[in-house]
This record gives sequence, C-alpha cells and structure tokens, in this order.
Amino acid sequence: MRFGYFDDKAREYVITTPKTPYPWINYLGSENFFALVSHRAGGYCFYRDARLRRLMRYRYNNVPTDVGGRYFYINDGGEVWNPSFAPTNTALDAFECRHGLGYTRITGERKGVRASLLMLVPQGHTAEIHQLTLKNNSEQAKDLKVFSLIEWCLWNAYDDMTNYQRNFSTGEVEVEKNGATLYHKTEYRERRDHYAFYNVNAAVAGYDTDRESFLGLYNEWGEPQVPAAGKSSNSVASGWQPIASHGLDVKLAPGEEKTFVFTLGYIEVPREQKWAQPGIINKKPAHELIAKFSKPEQVDAAMKALADHWSKLLSNYSIESSDEKLNRTVNIWNPYQCMVTFNMSRSASYFETGIGRGMGFRDSNQDLLGFVHLVPERARERIIDIASTQFPDGSAYHQYQPLTKRGNNDVGSGFNDDPLWLIFGVAAYIRETGDYGILDEQVPFDNDPKTAVPLFEHLKRSFHHVLNNLGPHGLPLIGRADWNDCLNLNCFSETPDESFQTTGNRTGRTAESVFIAGMFVGVAPDYAYLAEKKGFADEAKKARAEAAKMTDVVLKDGWDGEWFLRAYDFFGKKIGTKDNTEAQIFIEPQGFCVMAGIGVEGGQAKKALDSVKERLDTKYGIVLNNPPYTKYHVEIGEITSYPPGYKENAGIFCHNNPWIIIAETVIGRGDRAFEYWKKIAPAYLEEQSEIHRLEPYVYAQMIAGKDAVRHGEAKNSWLTGTAAWNFVAISHYLLGVRPDFEGLRVHPCMGGEVGKFTVTRKCRGAEYRIHVKNSGKGGVPKLVVDGKPVAGDLVPYAKAGSTVIVECEV
Ligand code: GLC
Ligand code: GLC
Repeated sequence: MRFGYFDDKAREYVITTPKTPYPWINYLGSENFFALVSHRAGGYCFYRDARLRRLMRYRYNNVPTDVGGRYFYINDGGEVWNPSFAPTNTALDAFECRHGLGYTRITGERKGVRASLLMLVPQGHTAEIHQLTLKNNSEQAKDLKVFSLIEWCLWNAYDDMTNYQRNFSTGEVEVEKNGATLYHKTEYRERRDHYAFYNVNAAVAGYDTDRESFLGLYNEWGEPQVPAAGKSSNSVASGWQPIASHGLDVKLAPGEEKTFVFTLGYIEVPREQKWAQPGIINKKPAHELIAKFSKPEQVDAAMKALADHWSKLLSNYSIESSDEKLNRTVNIWNPYQCMVTFNMSRSASYFETGIGRGMGFRDSNQDLLGFVHLVPERARERIIDIASTQFPDGSAYHQYQPLTKRGNNDVGSGFNDDPLWLIFGVAAYIRETGDYGILDEQVPFDNDPKTAVPLFEHLKRSFHHVLNNLGPHGLPLIGRADWNDCLNLNCFSETPDESFQTTGNRTGRTAESVFIAGMFVGVAPDYAYLAEKKGFADEAKKARAEAAKMTDVVLKDGWDGEWFLRAYDFFGKKIGTKDNTEAQIFIEPQGFCVMAGIGVEGGQAKKALDSVKERLDTKYGIVLNNPPYTKYHVEIGEITSYPPGYKENAGIFCHNNPWIIIAETVIGRGDRAFEYWKKIAPAYLEEQSEIHRLEPYVYAQMIAGKDAVRHGEAKNSWLTGTAAWNFVAISHYLLGVRPDFEGLRVHPCMGGEVGKFTVTRKCRGAEYRIHVKNSGKGGVPKLVVDGKPVAGDLVPYAKAGSTVIVECEV
C-alpha cells in the first residue's frame, strides 16, 4: 500500500494523506541553520547545534505523535482547520505534502479555501521562511481569520525539558509593529548574544506571545481558544511558555488569492551592540533579514537558488536507465540523504532527539563516502576536524561535538575499528579529488595545536594502532566494540543503568575482532599506495606484508569452515561459529573480508557468501546474525539485550547489507547483488509502506528481521551510514563507476535486469558520459574511450573542462 507517489520531474515525494504510518519528514537548510519538517508541519529548527541553539520546542515521543511545529489555523465562518491537518485534525477536502530538496510544501483545502504552505531555509540565511498562499475557490466571498503559531524553545533543548524550577521564570519577548514582528529574547539579558523573531510581511489584526492566552487553560494544540474566537488576545509573555502567533484578517473575493511571507529568523549580535536602549534589543540585523524576504518574488528567487544548488550537486553522478526506481534513488534521494547525514551526522531526526549524540568518528568517516563527490571542499574540512580529535597513539574518541569540534569524553573511546575509518575517509577523498596535498596538512592530536603533525602521520598511527593491539591469535583486539557498537566483549555489565558503550570492567587483551582484521586487510593497499606517494617506500612494503600476514591469520583462525568467524570473546571462545547454538553466523566479517579480497582465490569468499544467502537472507533483506540471541549474555553485551530480530540482534541492518552487495560483485555475482539491493532500497519498498512504515524515499537503519514479531517494519530513518554505503554499493559497484587514484574505474556488475544505461559522472573537473551495454554476464568490460579501445577497466583522468565519451560493453 502506498501513501503517496514520486514526482521525479519535480524531484519531490508527494504524500497524499496526513495519516502516514509514521511522520514522514524532510530537512531544510544546508549550512548553519537547519530544520526538520514532517508532512504535518511538525518538527523544529535550530542554529548549528540541535541541543544548544534550538528555536522551536518539539515534544519527542508524545501523544499524539508529532507534537510541535509551524501551525496555521484558519477560521472560516467559525470552523477552525489547518492546511497541515495537524493539530486540529479537522477533515480536509484535499491534502498534499510535497517534500522536495531543501523545501516542503503542504497544501490543504476545505470548503473552497485552498491554503498552501511553502517552507524553506534560504541559502546563506539563518531563517526558516513560511510562505502561505490562500485562495478562494468558492463562489462566495470569504472572511477568514488566520493565525500563525510557533512555540519557542528556551534555546538549550535539554534544559528546556528538564529544568522547570528555573525556566518557567526566564521567558521574555518583545513585540514590534503592532505584533507583525515578535521577538524571543529569553536569556538575552545575560550571556546569550542571540535572539529569534517571527515576522509576517503584512499588517496584523493582533498577536499572541503567551501560550496559555493562546490555547486557553488546559487546552491542547488542536483546540486553541484564540483561533476559535477568531481574535488574537495581544498577550505578552512573562516567563512560562513564550510563543509567537500572528492574527490576520483575510478577505478573499471568489477566485482571489493572497500570499503572506513569514520569516522565522535567528540573529547573533556582537556583545557590545546587543542593546538599542536599556532593555530593548538591537533589532537592526533582524530588520535587514526581514527585508530580504518580505516579498513573494524574493521567496521565488530563494527557491530558484535552492533548485540550482541541488541541480549542480546532483549532476556529479546521474544515471539514465529504464528502471525509474533505480534512477530516482541514484539521481535524487540517495545523494540527498547523504547530504543530510553530512549536515546532521546522528544528531537530529525523528529517532534521534538532537540532544544525545554528537558526530561519530566512525560515522562521519563513513558518511563521507556518500558526500565526497558532492562537496569535496567540505569533506576536506570534515576530515581535518575528525583527525584533529585523534589521540597520539592512533586511537580515537568515539564522538566529538559539532560546536566545539572537540572529542566527547562522555561517550568514551577504545572502539578499535575507529582509527581505520580515517584511512577509509582520506583515501575516498583523494580518489575523488587527487588532492594529495591534504596528507601534508598539519593536524593536531586531541585538538592540542602543539602536537600538530602532517595528516599522513595520523593515518600511520591509525594503521599501527591495529598492529600495536593484536590479540592471542594475531587478530586485532576489539576494544570496547568494533563497527557493531553492541558487541561489547570487555564490558560485562550487570547493572541496569550502565551504558554498554562506556562501561568496561575487563581490560584483558584477549577479545579479538575478525571484522577489524578484514577492514585492516581492505584498507592496507590504500594506505600503502599513499605511503608510496609520500616517498615512504619501506612503510608501504611493511603495510603490504602485514596485510598478507593478517590474511593468513584470518584464513587460519578467523575461518569456521563455511564462513568467517565474528570474533573471539574475553575467554578466547569463538563468536559466530557453527559450534554455538545462537548467533552462529554474522554478516559483518562475510562482507568486509570478501571486500578485502580474503579467500577470493581459495574459494572461502564464495562459500561465505553462499552461507549468507542460506542463513541470513530474508524477503526484506539480510539479517545481521542467525539464530538470534535469545538471552542476555554478560560477556557479549548489548547485542544480546535486544529481543530477537531487532536492531543488532538479527535485525536487517541496512547499513551492512551493502557490504554483502559489494562482496557479491567482488566475486562477480551481479544479479544476486542487485537482488539484495532492491530488497532494502526504499523506492522499491513503496508499495509495502504499510509494513515498512517509514519514508519510501530514504533508507532506514534497521528493518525488523525474520525472528522479530514485526518482520519488515523499519525504524530509524535518515541518519544512518546506510545512506553512504548504499550509495557506494549502487553507484561504485553495481553501476560500477568509481573514482580511483589513477583514473575512473568503469566496471558494472549488476546482472542483466537493467540492459542499457548511461552514467554521467563529473570528477576532477571533467565530465564522463558512460554508455553501458549490459548483457548481465559480468567480467571485465570492453571499453572504448573517445573512440579508442582501452584495455582493462580504467579510464584515465581527462583535463578539467573536457567531456569524455565512454562506450562500455559488459
Ligand atoms: C549505529 C551507529 C554506528 C554503528 C551501528 C552498529 O548505526 O551509529 O556507528 O556502527 O549502529 O552498531
Ligand atoms: C545503541 C544502538 C546502536 C548505536 C549505539 C551507539 O547501542 O543500538 O545502534 O550504534 O547505541 O549510540
């Protein structure tokens, strides 16, 4: 069952009912100011940090679902309704929500009045624009009373939901132009040099800034007193809960249309210019911002700029094929989601509250794989930020805070895969750009400028961190955990409120990870290549030798006969072996070891992937492990805390399905790879939205596995490494166009379902048009580059500005 449809031409997903199975959201903003917006206008906005600079209050996990947003109440002859359906839930004659790239447009219609609400964050500005267009499609004149409404968050979102003894007394506002501009200045009197405002470009009939005056005592958002009465109360908040609401009288003749522009802005003022007069804030910067969006033409121009921005980004990789689901995923929604992960990391979504988690060392490096071709300069900056938090011994904080860019001690360190992700990220960046200069960039450890060394030295410490931390079998020690945050082999927690991620009461150097071993072997050739480039031939030689050694160790002590083992626990017992009754096989090492080429020659790779097919594949994707854990195991950790089939305990982690997809292409089984991909790619799941439940335009982190009560149901959409890895799987390996150090590799491997297709790839300033005739047989392709046959699968990089035509037969 569907709840909408894709409008590919407009690059929008169109939701046709307010009752989707879960709020289906979008993101606005791409620089410093961001917003989350659901199809019912729910959500909130913030400046840079979703915890510390939140403008709008939002109530997570509330009843009903999705409370807080930008609400417009329309009183038409005594009946009150919202174009977004929420929060009055008054029946609409028509409803539509169009989520586009950086904007959302919600249209509701009732009794001949059509209200269309466009929301966007204009490029280069710290504001959310709400453009409301009202049209009278009826035969009668309409005399509407219209009320805007947002509720202010008192900036620090955590404090805002916990510290009422203080913050019920701090709220302050100012009212200007009879209420056309409403200012929120809580805590401005002390250390905050920022305020917010909500303006409308029209004369108002009234305003409200006090929540209780607007709603009425004990009323919900769906039964507010002011809209029902049709008249603002001109309330001025003092403490409690400040809001901003404009009251507009809108008369519309039959056929007439009127447009209003509301600006919800964030202003920072230099400390010495904070005040216009004692107690009166300096509004000059607010007036300047308001002037930029006071006319619909200015909003049109901002929309045009936004569309151009996205057209430019998306033109870096695009495909034309007969499969429209494939096209829309590759051309629009997957890169869009990758950019959202770039902006948000794991901070703010409808599953992450914007309060808890910062930027992950591992997560951010992985995300980079999905956005480096879109914004290489910003990827460069991100790499330097991440590397600056590394410790001198190569280890890393697991997370850092976006505002301070410093490592976050609360979340700890010691995840022993973390360091290797830096090599992954840097190699991807250099492949894309050819910017070897980044390796000479001076980068500190733990943000201490005195310790700065060239970035290459950071990679070296990463690589050697693994070698310096090998266990009894010569496999890498796992530390707190590896990619699987929930495989906590040194944690041994018996206390309910301890975090599995920070508790560690075993320091034994025994628990080992086969996954990290695979990663090490996989990343070693890149590291060696870069070392050679920098003139460290000995280091390159050593890296290759260590990788060969590790390969042998994996094939000897990391192999279970039919698949790769997962780990050795603290006691040296195998994890992920047929000898156990639970969790006999895990997905991660099968993917990573084969991607690294381990066992490809000896046949183990094929065996491992056949075991995946046999034991882990389901109709909705590949589960993480099987059989699931059924009881808590203190020596294994959080993974065993989940009920069977959910999350890391045998859920379908969409994040590591692409590793198997890529691995299948490594052994040349493109048809199977494409089948796997289609099972989790959102556009292909649209028809089963009632089961999947989340947005059909973005990936979710997890789909409940075959052992779960609710198999097929997804959770945690948007902020997940799933976006980047699936982009890599589909674009680099299935469609087979990927940048390499010396040229663009063209090596499609996706079976025969999609016959002919064309990929247009921009890289290092040149454009490559790659026409593929795909028989589905796989193997090394036949390439003709600008009319000349080329041996192998590498197209040499062309001069910036040139267009290269590639004919590829495979
Ligand atoms: C979450 C984390 C990621 C981790 C994964 C598996 O997605 O953000 O870092 O690898 O879970 O545990
Ligand atoms: C929990 C989640 C896991 C996430 C980790 C880090 O363990 O289950 O997915 O990676 O927290 O916050």
